[in-house]
Amino acid sequence: MDLKKLQQTAKAMVARGKGILAIDESFGNSEKRFGKVGVPHTEENRRAYRQLLITAPGIEQYISGMILFDETLRQKTADGVPFPDALKERGMIPGIKVDKGTKDLALHPNEVITEGLDGLRERFAEYAALGAQFAKWRAVITIGDGIPTVACIRVNAHALARYAALAQEAGLVPMVEPEILIDGGHSIERCAEVCAATWDALFAELKEQGVELSGTILKTSMVLSGNACPDQADVETVARMTIDALKTHVPAEVAGVVFLSGGQDDEKATLHLNAMHILGEKLPWPLSFSYGRGIQNPALTLWAQDTKNNVAKAQAAAVERSRANAFASEGKYK
Ligand code: 13P
Repeated sequence: MDLKKLQQTAKAMVARGKGILAIDESFGNSEKRFGKVGVPHTEENRRAYRQLLITAPGIEQYISGMILFDETLRQKTADGVPFPDALKERGMIPGIKVDKGTKDLALHPNEVITEGLDGLRERFAEYAALGAQFAKWRAVITIGDGIPTVACIRVNAHALARYAALAQEAGLVPMVEPEILIDGGHSIERCAEVCAATWDALFAELKEQGVELSGTILKTSMVLSGNACPDQADVETVARMTIDALKTHVPAEVAGVVFLSGGQDDEKATLHLNAMHILGEKLPWPLSFSYGRGIQNPALTLWAQDTKNNVAKAQAAAVERSRANAFASEGKYK
């Protein structure tokens, strides 16, 4: 393992005033998002839309890297430049989502396990050859009556660590993503408990499996009230409780912590990150964003209105959301 190289890549991913853009929607998810705005879910439309984001003029001022989907890593710009090269030419780091999505967890109703470990060493070798420098694996934890179970948290943490070890072996920085879903009527206190238990299990597994935390990025959800909870915590409370939980449960050696937007309102996701930085606490790791929907939503809507003529407008919208979140990552968003 070339630890120096991993550390360098990880550091660049969370460079000051920048964050990561997730454009790694699986076929199922991109079909849902395209469906909502009425764009046919064809390979060419997926390519054209991702090209729009990758080549948005100026986006590299705010975005350190983008997470691609398997298909996207193999696609090219209209003038024939492979997407990973198009990113590198603009000073951005190409990443790859390597998990294969979730399946029901046996004997555990309403809980899921992420699949994709079989053959992953070989896939990593190919992804590295195609130019990917970091990877992502998303585990999903659901809060509900009697869940998450210890079993669900443990098996997902175990799989995340196995993936992270294979990523580092192949020279890619693992982004480990346990997403605690926003769905449900749970309180913010309950979310904080589940985040703590999930992060504890994850870092125990990473340690046991020899994963180098200084070459690892944590991608996580924030500590939030469930979206159906009648009592919604305000921005300052979300910021305070998220920072407290992270500081207590995430080791200082981790190279960086980034958030997913996870179905939060776009503006809220920005305000929450900004508020965390306004607290002015000394944090052991850079704290930034790795948003998908939180950055893409307005761009996708504009593009869908006229996929031929609205490209520049959609690009400007993506850059604007990236800029807002980059400012928030330094507590400078107004
Ligand atoms: P959202 O920010 O839309 O939640 O997406 C980020 C991501 O990569 C989820 O896996």
